Amino acid sequence: MAESGVDAGGRNGSGDGNGNDIEQRVAAMTDPEQQKRAAAEVALELVQDGMRLGLGTGSTADWFVRGLGERVAEGLRVTAVATSERTTRLAAEVGVTISAPDGALDLAVDGADIVARGSLAAVKGHGGALTREKIIAAAASTFIIICDDSKVVSALSERPRLALPVEVVPFGVGCTMRLLAAFGHPTLRLLPGTQQPMVTDNGNLILDLESVGYADPEELSARLNAIAGVVEHGLFIDLAQRAYIGTPNGVQTLVREY
Ligand code: 5RP
Repeated sequence: MAESGVDAGGRNGSGDGNGNDIEQRVAAMTDPEQQKRAAAEVALELVQDGMRLGLGTGSTADWFVRGLGERVAEGLRVTAVATSERTTRLAAEVGVTISAPDGALDLAVDGADIVARGSLAAVKGHGGALTREKIIAAAASTFIIICDDSKVVSALSERPRLALPVEVVPFGVGCTMRLLAAFGHPTLRLLPGTQQPMVTDNGNLILDLESVGYADPEELSARLNAIAGVVEHGLFIDLAQRAYIGTPNGVQTLVREY
């Protein structure tokens, strides 16, 4: 794992000469939000004038979008596409114009629920945007994952209890659930605090596949793709070239090794 040299904790310090500077810096370094933000700031360094960008979804990707907004306000010109309505709204708030996705992208930056060292295989979709996220990641010459270090694993099987989100069409959802039960326990995702199903930006449903195990992600991916009614699943394999990880000691760069 190579250090990028960026200090994740050093951006917020404002000392008073009584040691509070150090306390603030230490607090910042251990704060996951600061770690996510620091990772996003390293990814922003890759952005160049005229680039076509894919913007991810989630609390980490939000930091990238906010930082991009600041650079656009300073004069940067980019074409940006968003992976969700949520990100489209945030982009509008920070002054980044969103275009319709069409053709290739230079760079896409997104968070992840977990990412494996070495392969950079990831599980995504706990924010419900996995289908658009995968389309945008696949369209980009370079796809970068940004996250805090709680998301990094040696292999996806290290977190067997992390559910795998699967987007399915509403028609015949009970039939699709029955087929998915061969891989784990599919649970219909509900809107928080309600009995109403969560509907994706594509008008579909999410089944969270519990106890899936992740013993062989490639095989699992291929078999899920073959199920009628499955639109997309949250296994992102062979997509990310690099990941920037916010840690208490700074931002670390993971490069895909195989
Ligand atoms: C949304 C996603 C997110 O990238 C993933 O859930 C990570 O989110 P966060 O940065 O908030 O931890 O896949 O569908």
